[in-house]
Amino acid sequence: MRLTWLGHACFSLEGSRTVLIDPFIPEGSLLVEPDIVAVTHAHADHLGMTVQLKKKTVAINEVAKYLASKGIPAEPMNIGGSITVDGVRFTMTPALHSSWLEEEGMGFYGGTAAGFVITMDGTTVYHAGDTALFSDMQLIRDLYRPDVALLPIGGRYTMGPEEAMVAARYVGAQLVIPMHYDTFPAIEQDVRKFKQAIERTTSIRVRVLSPGEGIDTGPESAGE
Ligand code: NI
Ligand code: MN
Repeated sequence: MRLTWLGHACFSLEGSRTVLIDPFIPEGSLLVEPDIVAVTHAHADHLGMTVQLKKKTVAINEVAKYLASKGIPAEPMNIGGSITVDGVRFTMTPALHSSWLEEEGMGFYGGTAAGFVITMDGTTVYHAGDTALFSDMQLIRDLYRPDVALLPIGGRYTMGPEEAMVAARYVGAQLVIPMHYDTFPAIEQDVRKFKQAIERTTSIRVRVLSPGEGIDTGPESAGE
């Protein structure tokens, strides 16, 4: 599987299908043509260009209803549920965060915020969404054994680096990729320090990506 960070919380997973998660792309260039879009919650920095993309979209019930009203083929689900879409397995996990759909200056309830465990071609990726640290991340490890964890570290709106260090241990993935930092001044962090602190104290590897940069990950590439 090819995993690419497009900036902020947006990742593409390219394998037998192309999955795009949280398509808000700060620098603006969409490098892939997704088959499936997955949205963790309704905040604009996650919903992004979901409506314009017009692809099959996996989202929590309330967001899926909104998307369906815009003519998007939505796949509704909710926390704790799993679905398989075109051979790709999605499990919706809890996230400790809020959610709000905004449209033309108005806003309305967007359901709750979530994360995803996504399995494609034998590789399992956990995208935490926007979240605080919560101890049930250990259940995600026990139940789904993710190979890769995508964790927010920006602070202010999500957990910061200290909490994300604990999250990395709870989730237990061998590879952690930090996200949701440095997009704008309020969430600036020293990502090198985060990487060093985890790698000094655990066997977990942290891969810091630049927007647009991808890695191959999966059974055949030994976690790289
Ligand atoms: Ni958010
Ligand atoms: Mn966010």
